[in-house]
Amino acid sequence: MKRFENKNVVVIGGTHGMGLATVKALIDGGAHVCLTGNNQENVDRAKADLGAGVAVIRSDASSLSDIDTLRETVSDVFGTIDALLVFAAVAEFEPFECVSEASFDRQFALNTKGAFFVAQQLAPLIKDGGSITFTTVTPATGSPQMSVYMGTKAAVRAFTQAFAAALLARRIRVNALAPGFIDTPSLGLASLTPEARQAVYDIGNQVTPMKRHGTVAEIASGALFLAFDATFSTGIELPLDGGLSTVECP
Ligand SMILES: NC(=O)c1ccc[n+]([C@@H]2O[C@H](COP(=O)([O-])OP(=O)(O)OC[C@H]3O[C@@H](n4cnc5c(N)ncnc54)[C@H](OP(=O)(O)O)[C@@H]3O)[C@@H](O)[C@H]2O)c1
Repeated sequence: MKRFENKNVVVIGGTHGMGLATVKALIDGGAHVCLTGNNQENVDRAKADLGAGVAVIRSDASSLSDIDTLRETVSDVFGTIDALLVFAAVAEFEPFECVSEASFDRQFALNTKGAFFVAQQLAPLIKDGGSITFTTVTPATGSPQMSVYMGTKAAVRAFTQAFAAALLARRIRVNALAPGFIDTPSLGLASLTPEARQAVYDIGNQVTPMKRHGTVAEIASGALFLAFDATFSTGIELPLDGGLSTVECP
């Protein structure tokens, strides 16, 4: 029997990057997967890549009406869910003095409000004994260019503990993975120019104690550990950051 056989899993933000790597590991393990993304081109590419057996849905995680529709679709397709994983987020790289109300609202709308209401609305479909896994960011250091983004993820860190407490009675474990510098197509910074993204990439390799970026496969493995194997952990945040938050950089 495969590791995830007969498991129904919903992945919010699974069309590329670490979400897609997690989706592929789930499919390899025999899971039934429903995944979302907001960009129609990326949704279409994931559909073509993953084939007919996988439900790929365009759904904006910052929109309560889209989340409502998603809940109905997931209920029709799966009935119940074993695990919900939330990857969708946006990071806008800008100095604190330049933050606009619009960029503040965009980041909080998806990363914070979206994570909250996706979990709230899908929780009734999660089986007792299931799991929710959020994605935060390594708690390593404050970045002057990412004040809003760090704030959005600090709230998700708090939701992880609060939801873990709220769902204890149903034995639903709620945890978060906290990536450091990970080699994804966007590096988590979709709004940057390719040159600026390369500069961030180079910094990541320098400041990470392990002197490299993490791979999407390493993140998928950590995410699936939290979702399925970490049966005595709830309310935790697991750093997957090459030592960035824990070890002095040589
Ligand atoms: N990469 C890194 O180094 C890094 C580091 C720390 C933390 N993280 C966090 O890790 C997670 C994944 O990052 P990543 O680099 O793999 O990818 P990403 O560029 O952050 O995108 C992740 C996924 O989110 C989806 N998405 C974006 N806007 C959405 C919306 N409004 N509604 C629904 N889905 C939406 C994207 O799909 P579409 O494009 O199809 O909409 C994609 O599938 C994020 O939470 C990020 O903040 C990343």
